[in-house]
Amino acid sequence: MPNPAGVDYGEYLRLDQLLACQSPKSAERGQPAHDEMLFVVVHQVYELWFKQVLHELDSVMGLFRRDSVDERSIGVAVSRLMRVTEIQKILVDQLRVLETMTPLDFLEFRDLLIPASGFQSWQFRLIENKLGLRSGHRAALERTAVGARLSPEQVLSLRESEAGPSLLELVEKWLERTPFLEVPGYQFWKSYAEAVRGMLAADRRTIETNPTLSEAERAVPLAELDRTAASFEAVLDAKAHDALVAEGRRRLSHRATLGALFIHLYRDQPILHLPFRFLTLLVDVDELFAAWRYRHALMVHRMIGTRIGTGGSSGHRYLLSTVERNKVFTDLYDLSTFLISRSALPALPPGMERRLGFHFPRD
Ligand code: HEM
Repeated sequence: MPNPAGVDYGEYLRLDQLLACQSPKSAERGQPAHDEMLFVVVHQVYELWFKQVLHELDSVMGLFRRDSVDERSIGVAVSRLMRVTEIQKILVDQLRVLETMTPLDFLEFRDLLIPASGFQSWQFRLIENKLGLRSGHRAALERTAVGARLSPEQVLSLRESEAGPSLLELVEKWLERTPFLEVPGYQFWKSYAEAVRGMLAADRRTIETNPTLSEAERAVPLAELDRTAASFEAVLDAKAHDALVAEGRRRLSHRATLGALFIHLYRDQPILHLPFRFLTLLVDVDELFAAWRYRHALMVHRMIGTRIGTGGSSGHRYLLSTVERNKVFTDLYDLSTFLISRSALPALPPGMERRLGFHFPRD
């Protein structure tokens, strides 16, 4: 039933509550530090954006929890992840606003914050967990600090996000179901393996027959080629792949990796466009979080130098270490190692080519 008086702007947005949420500690102590308001507002804006990111991630994960994900759902997931990446760009940019505060201005109120720290941003941890960062992957300090000073409900939601399937795991299951990897008379990995071995043999001939190279000079690119061949063999051989998973160097199963590779290689086929966009967006999301981590670490360096953080970490050095370590979709980045050029790509069987295209019946 619509409200006959209509909705009031401030009421709808609950501005009375929202605008009453900024209480700088320095003012409470009777020595207001001008820049603390900026510090509070910037953090609150971040938390609001984190809330929106979680809203989008939850919906994408909901779509991928099903046993089969139709084209429409992938389209929806793509548009929601695009929204996440646009928000992330703002998250990176927004640090510039905070950097208008000088390190000296920060010192005016920094001690009042101890032991509060970004470590306690449970929404940030929730995003990390939902994407697929696992507790075993975190530094020890990060693990202990995560649960500190959170409400029982927040701790529970963090535990649930760690126990439940992450976006990475849901995507893995979806990739494992990639159709077309194997149909009567065609196995993707066989035709791919032939193409790769042919390509590597051609590279070897090019090096071996190059008249400008001496024996010693030839040894260097040949050794490089052997290394490339070994990494291709690992993606072709399920056992070698499983060994990498056991060592923690890969997270996606062999089947899922082949599915992702197929989508990348044959992305020009209409039906694979959206899955390809989706996989690319997962890397974008991961990369933009890494960009935020790096940017935040740089800001922290200029703000507090090499001092320790209010949460007890080594500060800038700790934050830098998370840039690489906390990436989630590294398997998808690594896929580029195994791409082969369009000209070397084996043709698909004719029947399959038709199934991968869009066909509109003519009247
Ligand atoms: C003057 C500005 C800032 C300084 C000096 C600063 C400093 C730090 C430090 C030193 C840490 C490491 C943990 C610790 O020992 O406390 C940290 C972690 C963190 N900060 Fe900031 N920070 C600032 C602004 C921000 C802003 C605006 C956000 C936005 C939400 C933020 C979010 C976080 C998060 C999420 C972590 C945990 C990162 C992780 O463990 O991977 N920080 N911060």
